[in-house]
Amino acid sequence: MSKDLYNIAVIPGDGTGPEVIAEGLKVLMAVSEINGFKYNIVEYDLGGERYLRTGETLPDSVLEELKKIDAIYLGAIGHPDVKPGTLEVEILLKIRFSLDQYINLRPVKLYPGVQTPLKDKGPEDIDLVVVRENTEGFYTGAGGFLKKGTQDEVAIQESINTRKGVERCLRYAFDLCQNRAKKLTLCGKTNVLTYAFDLWDRAFKEVSTDYPDVTTDYAHVDAISMWLIKNPEWFDVIVTDNMFGDIITDVGAVIQGGLGIAAGGNINPRGVSMFEPIGGSAPKYKGKDMINPLAAISACQMMLQHLGEIASARLIENAIIEVLTRDIKSLSAGEMGCGTREVGDLVVKYIEKTQL
Ligand code: IPM
Ligand code: MN
Repeated sequence: MSKDLYNIAVIPGDGTGPEVIAEGLKVLMAVSEINGFKYNIVEYDLGGERYLRTGETLPDSVLEELKKIDAIYLGAIGHPDVKPGTLEVEILLKIRFSLDQYINLRPVKLYPGVQTPLKDKGPEDIDLVVVRENTEGFYTGAGGFLKKGTQDEVAIQESINTRKGVERCLRYAFDLCQNRAKKLTLCGKTNVLTYAFDLWDRAFKEVSTDYPDVTTDYAHVDAISMWLIKNPEWFDVIVTDNMFGDIITDVGAVIQGGLGIAAGGNINPRGVSMFEPIGGSAPKYKGKDMINPLAAISACQMMLQHLGEIASARLIENAIIEVLTRDIKSLSAGEMGCGTREVGDLVVKYIEKTQL
């Protein structure tokens, strides 16, 4: 979409969110000066703190504003004093659903200098992308209770899979394959979820006829969870539903070095997309200058890539690799050998040095 001026909504959020976002914004400023694009930041105070103070999660007026900007940069949502589910559903999922961000794009890439827990695997083995459907499946909230609180209680949580929703997700994944190794794996559970994944499987086969150059493959989610650990080199692009995507991308995050580096995009290819480090708000590290900001910086890189600022995205990725190979001892909070702000400064330093 490449423009002269981008309006970017920033939601620093809870816990360490504001600290890591501050480093991402430092990096954004550095690349914008080098590559000459301009941006406005509109900051939104959303998250657990605001909820505890005012009872508000995501006001409709904010949602309307978010619909009009170019991208959203999110830190983390989650607060130890708020009941689990409240902020996730009323802020994060509400944004994903209301802005129809139907793809959750999660690259799993092991950078040089990063230790993977997988024995005998290196950067050449771990470079894949998970395309997770992001608006359907178990996440829609369809279902309910019967006789709640009694001995006869029934809880039903339904997985919603629409042909349209599945097909647009599959097409996105097939399109993504065009710039990669042209190999797409559908991750499902056709042997048990015989309605939901029957639909996925049929749609996958039908859509694949429009992409004859892409090699397709199917595997059950349990097998994929195992193979991601045993043979991650088998995968290039994996497409799956919301719930399975949620789970296998945590496996992905750990094999790429952990939540200190894993980033993702909630994408609406024709609308407003949102980029976030996939780790949580890590409240125990809040304000300690200990958390790793590289996942947030990677999220900023993905945002720029999405906006069409390819040169800037590349500069950031190269600088991240420099920091990982030269400066950082570990990706874990408190074990990096440098502080949160220092990591951001180092990324900026390498960006400026590459430029010279
Ligand atoms: C993620 C998170 C969210 C999800 C939670 C916080 C609702 O785990 O982005 O993967 O399940 O999608
Ligand atoms: Mn998750």
